[in-house]
Amino acid sequence: MDAILVRGNSPLRGEVPISGSKNAALPIITASILFERPITIENVPALRDIRTLLDLLEVLGVRARREDHTLHIDASELSGSEAPYDLVRRMRASIYVLGPLLARLGEAKVSLPGGCAWGPRPVDLHMMAMERLGARVEVDHGYLVAKAPPGGLVGGTITFPLSSVGATCNALLASSVAHGTTVLENAATEPEVVALADFLAASGVRIEGQGTRIIRVTGTDRLVPERFSIIPDRIEAGTFLAAAAITGGDLRLIGCRADHLDAVIETIRSTGSTVDVGEGEIRCRGKVPPRGVHVVTAPYPGFPTDMQAQIMAVASIGTGVSAITDTIYPDRFTHVAELARIGADIRLEGNTAVVHPVDGLSGANVMATDLRASAALILAGLVADGETKISRVYHIDRGYERIEEKLRAVGANIERIDEEGP
Ligand code: EPZ
Repeated sequence: MDAILVRGNSPLRGEVPISGSKNAALPIITASILFERPITIENVPALRDIRTLLDLLEVLGVRARREDHTLHIDASELSGSEAPYDLVRRMRASIYVLGPLLARLGEAKVSLPGGCAWGPRPVDLHMMAMERLGARVEVDHGYLVAKAPPGGLVGGTITFPLSSVGATCNALLASSVAHGTTVLENAATEPEVVALADFLAASGVRIEGQGTRIIRVTGTDRLVPERFSIIPDRIEAGTFLAAAAITGGDLRLIGCRADHLDAVIETIRSTGSTVDVGEGEIRCRGKVPPRGVHVVTAPYPGFPTDMQAQIMAVASIGTGVSAITDTIYPDRFTHVAELARIGADIRLEGNTAVVHPVDGLSGANVMATDLRASAALILAGLVADGETKISRVYHIDRGYERIEEKLRAVGANIERIDEEGP
């Protein structure tokens, strides 16, 4: 089992290339199920979650071939409609196959994804969306069993009681080939949702309103595959902004979209860092020690929950008291105990972490519990005195491409080691 060793040392300086967005790539790759002809997707990040999804698609009869960061996916021989538990449990986003399988094959049997490190991850909104398109969806022995009406899915109005990225994506995927028009109300507006809608629109689906709370989709039976490039990963970019802020470094992020990061840039600036935005680039010069922050996560364009752990690492060496509240996942704080092992002084009050100033962090052995918590532990290790060993780094490989190489290239003292044991 791999572990990552980080030795606190000096500020990071240099350029960091930003990879394609994991959370845009996953629904767009899943959309291949809708196509009877091969599709080509560019700028696909090389991540564990992408490989997991391709393993699942292969079980369904979808063939994929990777050429560097380009994926050629052929679903013309789509044969299966069952997503088994042993694959779905590895990645919650597997639930994205529900909509396309229902739309193309008229049926789907998808294992319930179960929870994750920080608590339950319900899929009731995914089920509701499919029902609004005429499907019957039941839960049977841990599986979602769905069946479309005899003539196929029929457009309708889907009103989401809360903003859900995944359920909005599933609704977009299914309604793209449903008969008639579908209106999504209170749709998620995240850039990854917009990217999926843009991909479907480029393939011949009439879609209006992506990026707003009301999206109108007119289904088609003539999807025409167009090469499509995945948008940059805003959470990877945000993570490296935090790396510059926590180390007092000077990083230039290449190939990123600052317009996807307004709330994160504003928060990083509030720590005292200087952030300059250029064409496809963001430069961050960190100022240490950082000032304390007050963050409340919210659906886009609010501060993303996927940056909550990383900003907490920055706050852990802050000069003032910080308050970080997660309104999306009130239990997403498994990184608090691990950051405390590195010397952070964090007290949880409900879904708010109150971070008190400390004189410094000290390296320790810690354990990654989930993807973004892993990133936070690496950030803390970059400034902790001595060595930090982070176990179970398979979590970080789910969502960050070559993170230790990218950090080493800008001066971090970091390496991956083979650690015995579970
Ligand atoms: C997506 O998850 C992301 N994953 C998550 O990123 C991200 O944290 C999350 O959106 C919020 O931005 C992918 O895109 C693959 P939601 P998703 O549906 O779609 C509740 C990462 O680190 N909800 O927007 O699962 C839910 O419990 C991952 O890359 C229901 O109640 O999130 C949460 O409180 C972690 N019922 C809220 O909605 C449902 O049916 C938002 O969840 C679905 C969701």
